[in-house]
Amino acid sequence: MTAVLRGAGRVAGKRVAVIGAGSVGPGWGNGKAAAVLYAREGGQVLAVDRDGKAADETVELIRSEGGSACGFAGEMTDPEAARSTIEAMIGAFGGLDILHFNVGISTRGGIEATSYEDWRKVFSVNLDAAFHITKAALPVLERDGGGAIVFITTLAAHLNGPYPYVGYETSKAALSRLSRSIAIEYAARGVRSNTVVPGMIDTPHVHAHVATSTDAGAVASARAAQVPMKRQGTGWDVAEAALFLASDAAGFITGADLPVDGGMSILMGNASV
Ligand SMILES: NC(=O)c1ccc[n+]([C@@H]2O[C@H](COP(=O)([O-])OP(=O)(O)OC[C@H]3O[C@@H](n4cnc5c(N)ncnc54)[C@H](O)[C@@H]3O)[C@@H](O)[C@H]2O)c1
Repeated sequence: MTAVLRGAGRVAGKRVAVIGAGSVGPGWGNGKAAAVLYAREGGQVLAVDRDGKAADETVELIRSEGGSACGFAGEMTDPEAARSTIEAMIGAFGGLDILHFNVGISTRGGIEATSYEDWRKVFSVNLDAAFHITKAALPVLERDGGGAIVFITTLAAHLNGPYPYVGYETSKAALSRLSRSIAIEYAARGVRSNTVVPGMIDTPHVHAHVATSTDAGAVASARAAQVPMKRQGTGWDVAEAALFLASDAAGFITGADLPVDGGMSILMGNASV
């Protein structure tokens, strides 16, 4: 974990909205770790989640360390809730400098096994929600002098893994493309847009996903064995990459997809990430 730097931090004074800042279970998910890391590095954080209790837990964690955070409960597949989120951000902190979009869901299966209902559900959360919140955020990011958007995608957006997740893979690939479209549209207007591309990450989300069907320890070992570094990543690995892309240190970087995967994308032989 990173030491608390706050005033001299890498996003000191920046106003950060983390969408999907809670966690589906105990421990450090990608969104929760990102929210806490932004605050440790001096950011003022709006922790947004459809589960208000999960958002509040993240807010409490940040405040217990002396950081600045507010919570907001909102379902991001609803365009009105997305607009209200940005209004809440302005109400709490006066503006917006960094939008971090973490939410994502998946259903397992190839096209034969995937119902249209599941396909729509996954696209609604992974892609439509990103569209709604980004569309609401961009005028404020631009108004406030430019800023940064970080989308959390997945290696599965670029490469096929051991199991098919056709809705997840396709929606996240489109999210990566959306990021690049925004990057070009706003390149001369001060707003940067990038994605973090996690590989195998050990998070409560994964525990919740596998716990019902399989021995969690065996699944964790099997996941780690596929990674060239022979370990899964953590929410902190993902958060550190996002923090870099969101910070001024990445001021000349836009439209990038940054793998955080212990070398897995190289092993799987795809040059597009
Ligand atoms: N763990 C991995 O191995 C892995 C790998 C690649 C990518 N990812 C990506 O990481 C992200 C999830 O990371 P996490 O560990 O924080 O997961 P998480 O599921 O624990 O947390 C995500 C939070 O988002 C909230 N949320 C979900 N849908 C929402 C919606 N429509 N509106 C508002 N809030 C919503 C949930 O309530 C939850 O608290 C996803 O985008 C996923 O695709 C994870």
